[in-house]
Amino acid sequence: MIQNIKGMPDILADETPIWRFVEDTLRSILETYAYEEIRTPIMEETSLFVRTVGETSDIVGKEMYSFIDQGETNITLRPEGTAPVMRAYLQHHLGQQSSFSKLYYIGPMFRRERPQKGRLRQFHQIGAEAIGSSDPWVDVEMIAVLMEICQRFKLPELRLEINSLGDAQTRTNFREVLKKYFQKHASKLSDGEKVRLEKNPLRLLDSKNPDLATIIQDAPNILEHLTPDSKKHFDQVLNGLNAAGIPYVVNNRIVRGLDYYCHTAFEIMAGNLGSQNSVGGGGRYDTLSKDLGDKEIPAIGFAMGLERVILSIEERLKTELTRKKRIEIIALDEKARELAFTTAQKLRSELNDKMTIDLQFDTKNMKKALQLADKNKADFVCIIGEDELKNKKLTIKDLHKREQESISADGIVKYVKEKL
Ligand code: HAM
Repeated sequence: MIQNIKGMPDILADETPIWRFVEDTLRSILETYAYEEIRTPIMEETSLFVRTVGETSDIVGKEMYSFIDQGETNITLRPEGTAPVMRAYLQHHLGQQSSFSKLYYIGPMFRRERPQKGRLRQFHQIGAEAIGSSDPWVDVEMIAVLMEICQRFKLPELRLEINSLGDAQTRTNFREVLKKYFQKHASKLSDGEKVRLEKNPLRLLDSKNPDLATIIQDAPNILEHLTPDSKKHFDQVLNGLNAAGIPYVVNNRIVRGLDYYCHTAFEIMAGNLGSQNSVGGGGRYDTLSKDLGDKEIPAIGFAMGLERVILSIEERLKTELTRKKRIEIIALDEKARELAFTTAQKLRSELNDKMTIDLQFDTKNMKKALQLADKNKADFVCIIGEDELKNKKLTIKDLHKREQESISADGIVKYVKEKL
C-alpha cells in the first residue's frame, strides 16, 4: 500500500471540526484587528527564499523542497509565508493603494525537518504581516494580537520572550564582537559552526551543541550593543507592552532562524507541548523589501503553527465543540427510496444548513438502521418502510428521548424545526 509521505499527515474527518474551529477563531480575531486575508501560491521561485530567509539559515541550507520544473525554473514549496507576502505586496504595488497594509494568511508550509511531536514536514501556519510602518506601537499591536490568540485558545503557561536585533549598524558591529569572542573558543566549534562564525555569527547564539552551552551563556549581549536609535525603538516597544499589560521576558539569545529580522524579535512558548513548545514567533523585517530589489519598507509580522495550537487544546475541545444536529432518513423498502430522497431534499432546502441530513438506502432492517444511526451520532431518524408507504405517513424517532411519532410526509419540516 502506498502511504503518505513521512511528516505530511492526513487530517481525517474526526479532526477537521477542531481545525475549522481554530481557523474560524483566528480569522475572526485577525479581522477584528483590521487584517485582510491574502492567498499566495504554495510554490515560489527558489531565489525568493534564498534572498530573504538567507543562505546560512537551516531552512534554505537543508530544509527546502526544491525542484527544477519542465521549463528549467527552480521552484520551492514555500517554507514560510513572509517572503511570499512581501513579493505579492511589491508585485501588485499594494503600497500605492494604502501606505499601511495589514495582511494575514492561513495555509500549509513545507520544511524537511526531522518529524517529531509538534514538528512536521507539511505543517500549517497562520501569519500576520503589517507592512509600511516603523512605529513601535505597531510592534506592540502585533504582539498583542498573538497574545490574544493564545489566550483565546487558553494555551497554558504562556511565556512571551522578546529581544532586539537592532538596525543594520548594530548587527554589523555586534557580528565583529561575536566573531572575536567565538574565535577564542574555535577549538570547540564543529565544521558547520566554523562556517557560521564567518558568515553569520549571530546564529551561533541559538546553537543546540551542548559543548557550546556555557560558551553561549557567557557570550556578549546584543542589547548592550544597540545603536541609540535601536535602543530607543526597543525601549518604546517594552514601554508599550507594559502599558498594554502584556507580561514578557527579555531574552537576548533570541535570534530567530530566519535572516531577515531586525529590531524586535519575539517568540511565545506554551507549557504542554514538550520540546517543540514555540507556538508562534516573529519580528521586524525592515530590509526584506530591499533584498527583493525594492526600496526599504518597514514591516513586522508573526506566524503561528496550527498543529501546535491543536495539540495543546484538542483534549479539552473534544468535549466542548458543538456540532449540528443530525437526522437520517431511512428507506427500509426498495419502493421507499424516492420518498426518502425527496424528504431529505425538502429538509435540506428548508432548514438553511442548520442541520445535517443524511440518507440510508442500503440497510436491510430496522435494527441495523438504528445501529448505524447511533454510530453516526444521529439525533433523529425518519423511517420509511412498507407500512409508512401504505399509510402515507413517516415514522420519526427522537433518539435521545427515545420517543416515536407518526407524522404526515408534509409535516416533517415543521416537526424538525420545532426540535432545533
Ligand atoms: P518560524 O518561527 O519559522 O517563523 O515559524 C513560526 C511558527 O510556525 C513556529 O513558532 C511554529 O509554531 C510553527 N512551525 C515552524 N516549523 C514547524 C514545523 N516543522 N512543524 C510544525 N510547526 C512549525 C516564520 O515562519 C516567520 N515567517 C514568522 C514571521 C512572520 N516573521 C515575520 N512575519
